[in-house]
Amino acid sequence: MSIKFPDSFLWGAATCAFQIEGAWDEDGKGESIWDRFNHKPYAILNGGTADITCNHYHHMPQDVALMKELSLQTYRFSISWPRVLPQGRGALNPQGLDFYDRLVDALLAADIVPNATLYHWDLPQSLQDLGGWPNRDATDWFAEYAQIVFNRLGDRVPLWSTFNEPWVAAALGYGQGVFAPGIADASQQYQTAHHLLLAHGKALQIFRQGNYSGKIGIVLNTARHIPASEREEDQAACQRVNDDELNFFTEAIYRGAYPQDFIEWISPHAPKIGADDMSIIHQPIDFLGVNYYMTFKVSYAAQGGLLKQSARQIAVGDWNHSSNGFGFNPDGLTELLLHFKEKYNNPVLYVTENGVSLDETPDENGVIDDPLRIEYIQAHINAIAKAIQAGADVRGYYAWSLMDNFEWASGYMPRFGLIHVDYASGKRTPKQSAGWYREHIAGCTQGGKHD
Ligand code: FCB
Repeated sequence: MSIKFPDSFLWGAATCAFQIEGAWDEDGKGESIWDRFNHKPYAILNGGTADITCNHYHHMPQDVALMKELSLQTYRFSISWPRVLPQGRGALNPQGLDFYDRLVDALLAADIVPNATLYHWDLPQSLQDLGGWPNRDATDWFAEYAQIVFNRLGDRVPLWSTFNEPWVAAALGYGQGVFAPGIADASQQYQTAHHLLLAHGKALQIFRQGNYSGKIGIVLNTARHIPASEREEDQAACQRVNDDELNFFTEAIYRGAYPQDFIEWISPHAPKIGADDMSIIHQPIDFLGVNYYMTFKVSYAAQGGLLKQSARQIAVGDWNHSSNGFGFNPDGLTELLLHFKEKYNNPVLYVTENGVSLDETPDENGVIDDPLRIEYIQAHINAIAKAIQAGADVRGYYAWSLMDNFEWASGYMPRFGLIHVDYASGKRTPKQSAGWYREHIAGCTQGGKHD
C-alpha cells in the first residue's frame, strides 16, 4: 500500500518515567507505589526492580541525542509525581522539577515536540498510605500536582495527557492486585476509575484556567473486543468487557454518563459519584490518545469472574512471535480509530503507544536484527493510514518504546524498544527497526510516499 500521510503528522516514540528513569531514591525523589510494589518478593517476574532500569535520569542528554539520530519528531514521556512532590503534596522537590525542565529544553533544542503525561501509574506511596485513589481527596492532590507542573512547563510543552491507561491503573492495580499497589477489590477498582476521571477533569479545569498554549487529552488502553459468536450471551459478555475497559471512560468524557447497564451489572461495586462529578469529567478534550496492542474475542463464561466473560486473543495468521504473548492484529487498530470517529464526532486522535516485544540478543557484531518489529510497526502504520483514508483525524504515531525498559510485573523479560539496552552496562544500541523507522520518517517528511 502506498500512502501519503499529512505533512503535519508527527512520528515519535514513547516511554514512561518509572520504566526508564531509575534513580528511584536519588535527588530527593519520594517512594512511589511501584517502588514499594517492585521491592516485594515475587511481585515481579524474575525479581527485577526498576531501581536503576535504563538509568535515563542520568543519561537523559544522550537519550535525547539518540532520539535526534532517529529523526523523531515527537517524544512522549511521563512525569514522576513523587520526583516532583516526594510526599505527593506539600513540599516540592526542586531537583525533580529541574530534571523535567532540562528534558523539555533538550527536546526543544533537538526540534522534538514534547508530549508529557502527568500520571503513568506511579502514585506517591505516602498518598497510598492515606488510602490512594479510592480516597476522593486524591483528585485534589492530583490537581495540585498538575498545577505545579503546568506552572513550570506549561509555557513549553505543546501536548499534554492527564492519565495513561486509567483502566489498567484501576483494574490491575486495585481490582486484581497484579500491579501496584497490589489490591484486589472490585469496589476499590471502580472507585479508583471514577476518581481518575474526576482528577482528569479537575486538571483540565486548571489547564483551561491557566490559558496554557498547549493541547490536552487523556490516553486510554484500547484493546479491540469482539463477540465470539452471534449468541446473545456472547454479545452481552463482550458488551460488558467493552463497557468496563473503554466505554466507562469514553462515555463519561464525551457524554457525561457511565454506561447504565454496566453500572447495574457491577452494582455492589459501583462507584460513589458526587453531584457535580460527571460535569467536571465531561469537558472537551483536545485529543484522545489511543494505546493499541491487541484484539480479543469474548465469550460468556459462567465462571468468568465479575463480568462472566472469557477473552481469547486473536492474532492474524499464525503470528505468535511476541515474547510476552501480545498478539498482532493491525485491523483492530483501524476499526478502533474509526469507532472513535463514528461514535464521538471525529475527535483528534493520536496513537500514543503501539509496539511489540521480541526475544532478541545482539549477534556477535552487536547487531540486533528485528525484522518482525519492522513488520509489526509497518502493518500498524498502514492500519492508521486506512483509518485516515476513511476520515479519521489521526495526527501522530508513537512507537512503544523508544528503548527496552522495565515492563511492570513482567520485569525485564519483554524487550519493546527500538533501541536495545544492555542493563548491566547501560549501553544503548539502536536495533535495525530504529534505522528502518528513521528512513520511514525521512520518507514521510520529504513529502514522499512510502510503502
Ligand atoms: C501499556 C503501558 C506501557 C507499556 C506497554 C507495553 O499498557 O502503558 O507502560 O507497559 O503497555
